[in-house]
Amino acid sequence: MSGVQSRRVAIDALTRIDQSGAYANLLVPEMLASSSLEERDRRFVTEVVYGTTRMRRACDALVEPFLLRAVDPVVRSALRAGAYQLHFMEVPAHAAVSATVGAVPKRARGFVNAILRRVADQGQLSDDPAIRMSYPDWIVGLLEHDLAPLGPATAHEALARMNQPASVTVRADGYRQDVGSQLVSQLVTETGVIVDLCAAPGGKATALAGPGRFVVAADVRARRVELMQENIRSTGAVDVVPMVSDGCGPGLKAGCADAVLVDAPCSGLGALRRRPDARWRIDEEAIARLTALQVALLSSATQLVRPGGQVVYSVCTLTAAETLDVDAAVAAEGALVPDEVASFSAPWVPWGRGGLLLPQTADTDGMAALVYRREHG
Ligand SMILES: C[S@@+](CC[C@H](N)C(=O)[O-])C[C@H]1O[C@@H](n2cnc3c(N)ncnc32)[C@H](O)[C@@H]1O
Repeated sequence: MSGVQSRRVAIDALTRIDQSGAYANLLVPEMLASSSLEERDRRFVTEVVYGTTRMRRACDALVEPFLLRAVDPVVRSALRAGAYQLHFMEVPAHAAVSATVGAVPKRARGFVNAILRRVADQGQLSDDPAIRMSYPDWIVGLLEHDLAPLGPATAHEALARMNQPASVTVRADGYRQDVGSQLVSQLVTETGVIVDLCAAPGGKATALAGPGRFVVAADVRARRVELMQENIRSTGAVDVVPMVSDGCGPGLKAGCADAVLVDAPCSGLGALRRRPDARWRIDEEAIARLTALQVALLSSATQLVRPGGQVVYSVCTLTAAETLDVDAAVAAEGALVPDEVASFSAPWVPWGRGGLLLPQTADTDGMAALVYRREHG
């Protein structure tokens, strides 16, 4: 029965993600490639594994009231996957329960059947937003706090939207890129020499390429620069030169750039819909370290850009630390001023001296950007 087989693959994937820290978006395609499942079943496996991984906390909370003892990892995965099908997918309850029960080892079938029947009949989603929407408490608390100036519902709407899978957008040159990232590239309006300091895998660098532009696409990670090289080749972007270098001291001549893009490493809290397991991996402590790196990259960009040239800063996150606080540090340094002609029209919303893209506004990743000019003299 294909329903049982697909659930067996899904439960196996979930157990590996949980036990050995495998990345869902790498593991699932790999497992499907070596399976003989039909296309429809492959889609089902993907939806169950990604969805259950995202909604892990909510699924655990649905199951927990009925568990009287600790369960082993396979049974845990099966219960989560069952709860996910029952509460978040339109799978008829009897099919969700019987096919999931059929996919677990014989010894556990009676137990999984009893629990899932109770989840189907009596399971209730919690009122606590962090449990109901399945995020770590700290992410919900931080975004509630940081996005409060945009209205009390904004954070929850963003979090709810990031529980929906990302839509796929393909550019004219064949590159898959979120619309939000495309809007960021459009903020760079200078021609001439454009330095992209955090460029790999080259999504924005290849979008920046065009007549009258020479793009230096730098990134600190050599493996990612190789990936960028492939993307430059496959998109046919011209005059884009990849290089491996630390953006905090790239070894380029001061004042050489007409524009510098700093698409900085960040906590990624605006792009959670992209990677189902990201919310469980992101480290709250990392935000302060990332903020310091973002400020250092912007100082370096300030050195590289010519007087009157443009510096564009972007991150795929929604925290105040990585946006407003970084901008405050730039303001304190005094060499960059907001670019008066920068246009943050809808779907951007004003955010400090820059703009914010909320995931719920235009089906993009959540992003923030600031556009500066280097002062003359
Ligand atoms: C948000 S990603 C860039 C995405 C890219 N701009 C695109 O559109 O495809 C951030 C990048 O910053 C790079 N990075 C991290 N620290 C860096 C540093 N000190 N100097 C340069 N790049 C760095 C990471 O390797 C990562 O590729």
